[in-house]
Amino acid sequence: MGEPGGEQGRAIEIQIQTAAVIGTGTMGRQIAALIAASGRSVRIWDADAGMLAAAKERIADETRTLPELPRYAHHRFAIRPPADLDGLLGRITAAESLADAVSGADIVIEAVREDLETKKTLFSELSRLAPQAILTTNSSSLPSSQIASAVEDPGRFLNTHFFAPIWSRPMVELMGSGSTRPEVMEAVARFGRSLGLVVAVVRGDSKGFIINRVWRAVKREALRVVDEGHADPADVDRLWMLYFGTPYGPFGNMDMVGLDVVSDIETSYQNVATDPEDRPSAVLGRKLAAGELGEKTGRGFYRHPEPEYLREGWLTGEDRSNS
Ligand SMILES: NC(=O)c1ccc[n+]([C@@H]2O[C@H](COP(=O)([O-])OP(=O)(O)OC[C@H]3O[C@@H](n4cnc5c(N)ncnc54)[C@H](O)[C@@H]3O)[C@@H](O)[C@H]2O)c1
Repeated sequence: MGEPGGEQGRAIEIQIQTAAVIGTGTMGRQIAALIAASGRSVRIWDADAGMLAAAKERIADETRTLPELPRYAHHRFAIRPPADLDGLLGRITAAESLADAVSGADIVIEAVREDLETKKTLFSELSRLAPQAILTTNSSSLPSSQIASAVEDPGRFLNTHFFAPIWSRPMVELMGSGSTRPEVMEAVARFGRSLGLVVAVVRGDSKGFIINRVWRAVKREALRVVDEGHADPADVDRLWMLYFGTPYGPFGNMDMVGLDVVSDIETSYQNVATDPEDRPSAVLGRKLAAGELGEKTGRGFYRHPEPEYLREGWLTGEDRSNS
């Protein structure tokens, strides 16, 4: 990373050429693919050896299939992955260790589970292992200010919140830790734009990102009407899809995110909620207990990879196979 300073008092822009992505779940794989698509090299690492071993094959598969999924066809600002998939994959290296992953990286992007203590432990290690790099978290609901105490130099730390599928939702929200240096924010904003993303900077310190807060309100109420027995998930989605003209509804989207991730994010909000009604959802709890985590396990509120809501007649209620 080029240090700010400079000729005749002019600040030299921080350049981001190489990246490390920690966590090769839903988000980490897609972030790594997008960075590699920009021509940069990226090292990946996951604490789960099985996840890491499978990551490149899954990246290849997802980069081929995710941008083509019919349910995202209405997303107008999609990014097309490069035709040279082998070239893209060649720029991604599964690292031997966390230290190996971050060695020489200009930016380290964390995409591990949404749990404050897990993230703090990781960032305290990253501070030591990557003393020069910009460090970012992809957390959906934890402001970077909460994690910053674990980072030795919070001036080079911020939240970069990407979205899945990254190709169809080409945007990233940035939120500083309160002490993120302006030149670091600017470098990451330029980096985001160079990946083809629309960059939005969240002002101040928000409990959750902009889209996440809005989406959280929808998700909380969708779960609540089902918990209260007023509707089943399929009917909530039908009404939503007809009202907003979208190809999936809130429960379809939760399946895509992963119900374990949804639950972690809900817990993070509930931990600071002032509304006593804001408590864990029973229907979500039942899904977790059954190991039905959405697309990633082949079953959630729907069956995957061909969820019922894509079937002919499902939206109009003629096919009520999962109702
Ligand atoms: N899924 C989404 O749509 C989405 C969207 C935006 C942001 N996020 C956020 O991105 C982050 C990752 O979410 P995800 O959906 O990719 O989760 P995921 O469960 O699919 O993947 C998390 C990965 O992190 C690994 N991991 C856990 N602890 C680790 C550690 N200490 N070191 C290294 N690897 C570790 C796990 O083995 C797993 O492979 C979360 O903070 C989540 O809130 C998710």
